[in-house]
Amino acid sequence: MHLRCIQCAATYDLHERLLACKRCADLLEMVVEVPHAPQELKRGWRERRMSNAACDRSGVWRFREFLPGGFSRLVTMAEGNTPLVAAQRSGRWAGLYRLEYKHLGWNPTGSFKDLGMTVGVTEALQVGAKIVACASTGNTAASLAAYAAYAGMAARVYLPAGMVSMTKVAQSIDYGAELVQIDGNFDQALETMLSQTDSRIYFLNSINPFRIEGQKTVIFELMDQLDWRPPDFIVCPGGNLGNSSAFGKALQELKAHGLIDKVPRLVVVQAAGANPLYRTWQAQSDELQVVANPETVATAIRIGNPKSWKKALRVLRFTDGFVLDVTDEEIGEAKAMIGRDGIGCEPASATTLAGLRKLVGQGIVDPEARVVAILTGHVLKDTDFIIKWHGRQDAK
Ligand code: F0G
Repeated sequence: MHLRCIQCAATYDLHERLLACKRCADLLEMVVEVPHAPQELKRGWRERRMSNAACDRSGVWRFREFLPGGFSRLVTMAEGNTPLVAAQRSGRWAGLYRLEYKHLGWNPTGSFKDLGMTVGVTEALQVGAKIVACASTGNTAASLAAYAAYAGMAARVYLPAGMVSMTKVAQSIDYGAELVQIDGNFDQALETMLSQTDSRIYFLNSINPFRIEGQKTVIFELMDQLDWRPPDFIVCPGGNLGNSSAFGKALQELKAHGLIDKVPRLVVVQAAGANPLYRTWQAQSDELQVVANPETVATAIRIGNPKSWKKALRVLRFTDGFVLDVTDEEIGEAKAMIGRDGIGCEPASATTLAGLRKLVGQGIVDPEARVVAILTGHVLKDTDFIIKWHGRQDAK
């Protein structure tokens, strides 16, 4: 395996500690070569579910043929292994006969970030980093803090002051991270972090290609759970666009290696006040349409200048997918419906159901389509939102 620039195709050694191409400064991605036959891989992955070895219990490392390897220690807490849950009430609300949620909020720190962090922190340990750092709207920070603590490393998190759910901040504190509050939004927090020149610091935002590799295993696990019969649509929220990029990479690799014969359409849903990918897509532009002052109640995705936008656009083209946006009101309603199903999620995750309701209403998604929505964060991630939303409904 090696790293390759997504723009100029320059290649680099896997462990060079690079976040950007040295030639053109664009993002890097990992190139995987898997010599095994599809049936052999599928059987092996199932068999690992019976094993109690740490690398097999992890829903990420179980798929290690498609991951970077050669590490002296895996930093894993049995992440992944998240269920597919049928959603009766909210499915009907969206106009679908059949909707299933893959709930990534049911991970060790309550969000999908753990899937990338197990690989990212493993690499950080391997290259001898002493401090790991990220900018975050809360979930990446909580996950980084936990995995760093587990590995015995120091963690520093850059947070937009006053714009992160307190339950997420509390997690970072509990796991012992150093908090740096930035007077600005996520985009500014990320720029501040990236301007640090201390070589002891290892950056773990999703521009780090090791994070993307871990997050892509969601799709491997999902396809295994569906007995390798891909759904028609996979729907996920879009913020900094690392997750959608990871999902697309997974679909590309699974198709290229003959593990699936059909590619589901990927739908990315953004909040209307933080919708740079949607604007770019609408404008059919090759330049990102940055949102200077992103604003949404779904603070996890309050991002105006997403770093992985080129990767996400490429994924939309490859999967014949699309992107839409939903209002804060629609997010609140959808979130309450997911709660009424007994499942629950944080506001950003509810963009998926809000988006689906819109798409079925517009005739773009057929009511009989097989749809999997990715819920990215746990219901307890933003309890403040719940109390405020339902308080307002009661007052109406
Ligand atoms: N859902 C949740 C719950 C998130 O926390 C995030 C991103 C997303 C969706 C969007 O994913 O950025 O890969 O497009 N949270 C980041 C953070 C930005 O810092 O926790 P994305």
